[in-house]
Amino acid sequence: MTGLSDSFQRPINYLRISVTDRCNLRCIYCMPAEGISRLSHNEVLHYEEILAVAQAAASLGISKLRLTGGEPLARAELISLVQMLSRIEGIDDIALTTNGVLLREYALPLKKAGLKRVNVSLDTLKRERFKRNARRDRLGEVIDGIAAAEEAGLEPVKVNMVVIRGINDDEVLDFARHTIEDGWHVRFIELMPFTSGESLQFVPTKEVKERLSSLGILEPIPSSQGDGPAKYYRFPGAKGTVGFISPLSEHFCFNCNRLRLTVDGKLRPCLLSDKEVDLKTPLRSGASLEELKVLIQQAVAAKPERHYLLEGMLPTVRSMCQVGG
Ligand code: 5AD
Ligand code: SF4
Repeated sequence: MTGLSDSFQRPINYLRISVTDRCNLRCIYCMPAEGISRLSHNEVLHYEEILAVAQAAASLGISKLRLTGGEPLARAELISLVQMLSRIEGIDDIALTTNGVLLREYALPLKKAGLKRVNVSLDTLKRERFKRNARRDRLGEVIDGIAAAEEAGLEPVKVNMVVIRGINDDEVLDFARHTIEDGWHVRFIELMPFTSGESLQFVPTKEVKERLSSLGILEPIPSSQGDGPAKYYRFPGAKGTVGFISPLSEHFCFNCNRLRLTVDGKLRPCLLSDKEVDLKTPLRSGASLEELKVLIQQAVAAKPERHYLLEGMLPTVRSMCQVGG
């Protein structure tokens, strides 16, 4: 295996694939209430095309894949995509980021198809609040979906909570308690300022940690390769872990290991930059594996050193549900 690395000597071994821009929720920080203008069937990469990109990426040294959305389980036949991807030589980890609504139905078939793990996005444990913030009354299904994923062995199940001031920041202790009492792995994420029409405020990791201090001392867990931007801790005796993803208050770009494939077939070197390499047009005009590899290498070479959120530079072209978080 050759191994990919970018211009800043960062090894790149991880590809995130957005499979749909549709979603069965409408989280306030992600989508407007009416949804976004959906791409038509033909604008979205077909599974065979996603497979071709993943094969080319794997032959360059990508070993980890993650399916994202929108909501990936909202795309038909996702199981068959997982099956195809899991057969690619060199891919040893396939994960999924989901809102959990459909997990009860899909957890076991996903596991059988070769999926290893899931991350579930969940920002509140209060039903009325969920209804307001995700604009749908589906909290019960999400909680049940997390249990289904654990039962199916899609572990570790990680729960991602985007902490927003005045919206759900009073719940960080409740989430953290689940790491002690139920073995949940909870990650607190600083809200990134994407365009969604609402003006919402992030809560710095430092402040979240202060609020958690009443539960005990957070013991750091040594980071391991593939942890990505999260830093992990554990309360004494807890089975689960607490993680922090701090795009605003800490610069974590130095160990970024990933590329993103957008739902319409653009390879994006950085979530927070508008730079993209088009793969769909070449794919549809019969590009060979070798040609795809060259394009992927171009995207890797174009990876910026870091994001410029703090300098006020936001990506403009797409919203989160089109890039996949
Ligand atoms: N800031 C931080 N995280 C976000 N997500 C979606 N939008 C944002 C944002 N603006 C998260 C979702 C999910 C993952 C796909 O990205 O909650 O966990
Ligand atoms: Fe759907 Fe995830 Fe966006 Fe919520 S954050 S609307 S669950 S894609």
